[in-house]
Amino acid sequence: FELYLDTADVNEVKRFNCCLPLHGITTNPTILAKSHQGLNETLRAMAEVIDGEPRFHAQVVSTTVDTMVAEAKQLAALPYDMVVKVPATETGLAAIKQMKQAGITVLATAIYTVQQGLLAALCGADYLAPYVNRIDALNGDGVGVVADIQTLLNQHNLKAKILAASFKNSQQAMNVLRLGIGAITLPVDVAAQLFQHPAVQPAVDQFSADWQQSFGSKLSFE
Ligand code: E4P
Repeated sequence: FELYLDTADVNEVKRFNCCLPLHGITTNPTILAKSHQGLNETLRAMAEVIDGEPRFHAQVVSTTVDTMVAEAKQLAALPYDMVVKVPATETGLAAIKQMKQAGITVLATAIYTVQQGLLAALCGADYLAPYVNRIDALNGDGVGVVADIQTLLNQHNLKAKILAASFKNSQQAMNVLRLGIGAITLPVDVAAQLFQHPAVQPAVDQFSADWQQSFGSKLSFE
């Protein structure tokens, strides 16, 4: 299973790398634009703070097949484990077919429908990123779309892995994880929710208070 953070914030990645098994980072043009950091700078900083050899998912920004493929080749040539994100549009699907012929690892992104997911998988995409919260926000069923895509992948023996994306809370994330998908990317606020529950800290504080009352602040073996 692959767990990613959907961010360009290196301090947050450093924080979560200490307590979570991060597989890598996903970004998109909006995340990078908001961070005011270039792609190179972001990836270099991330590679320094994530254990092992992280996998990075970075998106093409061109809008024609040839220019998307050219950008994908540039991204794939970076000195990291790179996955090229390509929107699952008509143009994007044509670009994905060519990228796969060139041996590039590809994630089909901006997936709002089961149809897009199936077509991207048939075109050879290695990962599929359905946008769970954005689908829900359009009165759709984000978890249902993920479930249907996973069913089709299984039925047709397609090798693409679902990397579910776009979450606004950890419950949404747990709902798709129950489907047995292969990967997920979370914004940092949602990742933080994974270990937050109002009862946890009071429980831990009570243990400390009880122990200190009898034995002081350190563990005693007497
Ligand atoms: C993933 O590929 C997308 O970049 C991202 O998860 C979209 O998330 P958002 O809906 O929170 O912008």
